[in-house]
Amino acid sequence: MKNGKTRWDWLLLDARAMTLADERGYGLIEDAAIGIVGNRIVYAGRRADLPLAPDTMAERVELLGGALVTPGLVDAHTHLVFAGHRAHEFDMRLNGATYAEIAQAGGGILSTVRATRAASEDELFAMSLPRARALLRDGVTTVEIKSGYGLDVESERRQLRVARRIGQALGITVRTTYLALHALAPEFVDRRKEFVDAVCQEWLPRLHGEGLVDAVDAFCEGIAFTPAETRRLFEAAGALGLPVKLHADQLSDLGGAALAAEFGALSADHLEYTNDEAVARMAKAGTVAMLLPAAYYCLRETTLPPVEAFRRQGVAMAVASDLNPGTSPILSLRLAMNQACTLFRLTPEEAIRGTTLHAARALGLAARKGRLAAGYDADLAVWEVGAPAELSYWIGGPGPTALFANGLRLH
Ligand code: NIG
Ligand code: FE
Repeated sequence: MKNGKTRWDWLLLDARAMTLADERGYGLIEDAAIGIVGNRIVYAGRRADLPLAPDTMAERVELLGGALVTPGLVDAHTHLVFAGHRAHEFDMRLNGATYAEIAQAGGGILSTVRATRAASEDELFAMSLPRARALLRDGVTTVEIKSGYGLDVESERRQLRVARRIGQALGITVRTTYLALHALAPEFVDRRKEFVDAVCQEWLPRLHGEGLVDAVDAFCEGIAFTPAETRRLFEAAGALGLPVKLHADQLSDLGGAALAAEFGALSADHLEYTNDEAVARMAKAGTVAMLLPAAYYCLRETTLPPVEAFRRQGVAMAVASDLNPGTSPILSLRLAMNQACTLFRLTPEEAIRGTTLHAARALGLAARKGRLAAGYDADLAVWEVGAPAELSYWIGGPGPTALFANGLRLH
């Protein structure tokens, strides 16, 4: 058998597999068998097609009692490493203040920056780990984690190091993103150009040199950074061979999604104000539309992202939590899937594709994650549900009964 071994490490039987192997549909296999060797899936198919008697084939054979097996979920947009919280802003917003007003008054992102700068690496790790653990309870085995609450090179480094540590501690896959232009650092007020210079010329190369950066991101918005500033960052990232992504068109249409597409971004994220022309450019560039319905919900937004245009133009839609202390204090990717259906009118099938294969693609991991197929990483979630749509339909309720990440059984 594969890898020179005589037996597979695992063989899962008496299961229904949601393989997502095809362009459309769930790719369901009734009476499926899944074989794992090391950190890889070596077989995902019909039990009847196994070449040998199942109980001779693997070290461990497990019967799943007819449960549904899906790929481990992928949360491809989070800011889960931070200190403190912003519950007081929740109060302010409920009393009528807008997100932009709070930001302009020195709250918002900058209040989390103050708390994050004051925390040591170990403190940040201890505060952030439970949030990552919470995502695992929904079957998440791959998480993207952004920096962006440091705004100086030491604090950004601390956030990125904590992100890597979380991956090691939990046995899951973590992709780090240097959110380089999130807010203007307070010590650079009135010196915007110098801040962008420092980011592009010093901090990005340094953090990249330390192996801490898998991708680069910015917040392109009236209350954050201009398209011209974002362009400079993307050029600097490109010169280092790093992929980019963008917080684009969340509160207004500044042309962010089109700019992301121009640079072949992995994803453009939020997209409530993205116009049809930009959607066409995303389609051409293969940029994934990263939908973040929990931020839309928390900010009580009313302008919907152009979901129908994404469908028409064939832009892959991903769904993520956007877990952050300001606009999306959500610790459940499945709640975000439910919101994507209820608020954005995605189908349950689009929602699960959006947290598996499309999310994997948005992290540059399309060949490894988000599907159950031979050669893919052995990231699997086992659910006691009958219909696949139940994964988006229930709000709360039990998570997966078993979870595998990179071939290791987490529970
Ligand atoms: O994705 N939009 C910018 N960044 C975050 C919010 C960060 C914050 O408010 O702390 C977002 O929504
Ligand atoms: Fe975000």
